[in-house]
This record gives sequence, C-alpha cells and structure tokens, in this order.
Amino acid sequence: MYASSTASPGPCDVLVVGGGVIGLVTAWRAAQRGLRTAVADPAPGGGAAHVAAGMLAAVTELHYGEQELLALNLASARRYPQFTAELEEASGRDTGYRACGTLAVALDADDRAHLRELHALQQRCGLDAQWLSGRECRRLEPMLAPGVCGGVRVDGDHQTDPRRLALALLTACERAGVAFHRSEAVRLLLSGDRATGAELADGTRVSAGRTVLAAGSRSGTLEGVPARVLPPVRPVKGQVLRLRVPPAYAPFLSRTVRAVVRGGHVYLVPRENGELVLGATTEELGWDTTVTAGGVYELLRDAHELVPGITELPLVETLAGLRPGSPDNAPLLGPTALPGLFTATGHHRNGVLLTPLTGEVMAEALTTGRLPDEARPFSPLRFSNALQELPV
Ligand code: GLY
Repeated sequence: MYASSTASPGPCDVLVVGGGVIGLVTAWRAAQRGLRTAVADPAPGGGAAHVAAGMLAAVTELHYGEQELLALNLASARRYPQFTAELEEASGRDTGYRACGTLAVALDADDRAHLRELHALQQRCGLDAQWLSGRECRRLEPMLAPGVCGGVRVDGDHQTDPRRLALALLTACERAGVAFHRSEAVRLLLSGDRATGAELADGTRVSAGRTVLAAGSRSGTLEGVPARVLPPVRPVKGQVLRLRVPPAYAPFLSRTVRAVVRGGHVYLVPRENGELVLGATTEELGWDTTVTAGGVYELLRDAHELVPGITELPLVETLAGLRPGSPDNAPLLGPTALPGLFTATGHHRNGVLLTPLTGEVMAEALTTGRLPDEARPFSPLRFSNALQELPV
C-alpha cells in the first residue's frame, strides 16, 4: 500500500511476517539494535490498525481476571509520550497522539451498576478513576444525553491515530534500513528443528536467523509451522464507523466517551482533525469482514442514545477489521519452543496500546533470546506447554 519493495535477496538477521503496527514496530526496534531486518507484507501499514479507533484504554477497558495484562497495558501506556516523540522525530510525521482522557458513562440503572463494579475494580487495582454524577458528566461533555446517570472519569486513558501511527512506523523503518518484501509469506522455512525464514507468495525464499510471526489474526495460518508452536490466534471482527464533525459543530466532544449499552461496548473517539471514530462490534465470525446493516444500526443506535447529536454528522466511512484474539486475550511475545521462531501477536483489543512495549520487548528478545521480566507472563510458551500436557 505505501512502501515500494526494497528488499535484496540476501539473508537477514530478522524476518518479520506481517507489516501492521506490531510487525513494523518490531522491525523498527530490531533495526535500531543493528539487526538486518526485513518485513514481508503485500500492503505494509495496513492490518487491523487501519480500522482501529486508537484508544489507549488500559483503565477503562479493564476486565476481571486480567490484572497481569493490566500491568502490561499500563507499562505501554506510560511509554506512549516518549515513544511518540521518538517516532515523530525519526519519521518526521505526526502520529495524532492526543492526551485527552476518557469518560465512561451509564445510561440506565443496569449500566450504572455495571460501571460501579468496574470503578470498584479500578480502585482495588490502585488506578486513577473518579466517579461522577450524571450532571457532572454533562458539565464535562455537554453533548451527552440528558439520561446519562453517572460516569467514571479517567484522565490517563488517551488516544492516538492508528493510521498515522502506521505511516510513521513505515517511514521510520525505511529510514532505519528495514527491507520490505511486498508479498505474503506462505510457508515457514525449516532446517532440521530450526526456523530459517519464509517462502513468499511471489516465490522468493527469504533466509533469516530469526523469523517473527506478527501477522495479526492471520499469524496462525502460515504453512509449515509445527502444530505445537502455531500461535492460537483467531479473528474477532469489529465494525467501526467514521463520522466528521464540521467546524461549526466543534468542539463536539473533548475526550473519548464510551459506555456499555445492552451488553455491547460503544465508544466515540474525537480527533483534533474533526474525525469522530465510532466503534465497535465484537463478533466471532471467522474471516468475515462484511460491514452489515445490523452492525451499523446497532452502533448508531447505541451511540445515539449516548450522544443524540451524532445523527447530524456526516457518516464518511464504514469498515470492519479483525482483532487477533488469543485464548486469554493477552499477546504472545517472544521466542517459541521452535529455535529461530518468535511471535508478536494475539494483542486482541490492545494492539495499538501495546505497540511501544511490544517493540521494546521484541527487540530485546531478538537480540538476547530473553524476554524482559515485565513480558515473561506473555511468552508463547504458555500455550505450547499446555498443549504438551494434554492427554493423548
Ligand atoms: N479496544 C477497542 C476495541 O477493540 O474495540
């Protein structure tokens, strides 16, 4: 999509399979460590991040039983300002990072009970989250519906623009000397019990000392990967709409506004350039990326209950993307049980949030063979070990 093919046929130290934000940040950080790095992707800079809203929602998307993931998410959120500055300097591009905060609101007694539970969990985890009355919510965001009956203000959950982030990473990779193969990896190359690169759809065989599976929801589809190390990722569909706030309506919202309506998550992410991203469905439908009337209807219906004025805004884009879901909703980072094969996938709802941390920990793992302490619980070995323990 954006990069021309810059790859020479010679062997490299690292081949990254997949050029979404996770693959690109891995490649950029690896190249910065002096590793000869290549990326295989027919359209680098695309992937799930092209659809994603870009919320950095470590606190407002907290779930029960995911405290370990929370620590990882917070560690990445803390890195965002410095990461953004470094990436913008390296690429000469703006990434749309905006320290705007988030307001999660409730529309009825059930929603409020749910939000109270979330707030109690946030407090038990020592997170900065403040309970507000409905009136206090509307004072912060006057476009909210009069029926909003409470909310949680989280000033630390920000946003970035994933499309700009991807473009900046692509430029940073090119400037750091990363080579691009504009073709899909179709088969892992093996030499004995060691991964040695990949064969591409155009017939090129790319030799590499280390191969990283970073192809989002497709990371488990590469032929030739032994079953015991195949990452257990699956596609989780999300439909997302983009509206435009005409200058006469600005500021429409000043921060991300979100709610759980009838059990579904709805969020509105306002960009400084007037884009308003409205997401997202969560659907287990395999590889389907159809935008459906039902999906669009439900998103607009729920968002309209939250912010009635959205019906005045132009609807400029509807898209569906595939989150890379994993069995425990957490990423698979670092070396697998197959020498030479690494994974950086399974980020599910947190790919954009986890981009800075993923780049760092993958570069460390690719350089030293070891994961930093904070990423150890997210080794892909947690699944291959479980598989080995299954009765035969
Ligand atoms: N993190 C937002 C989503 O996955 O929809």
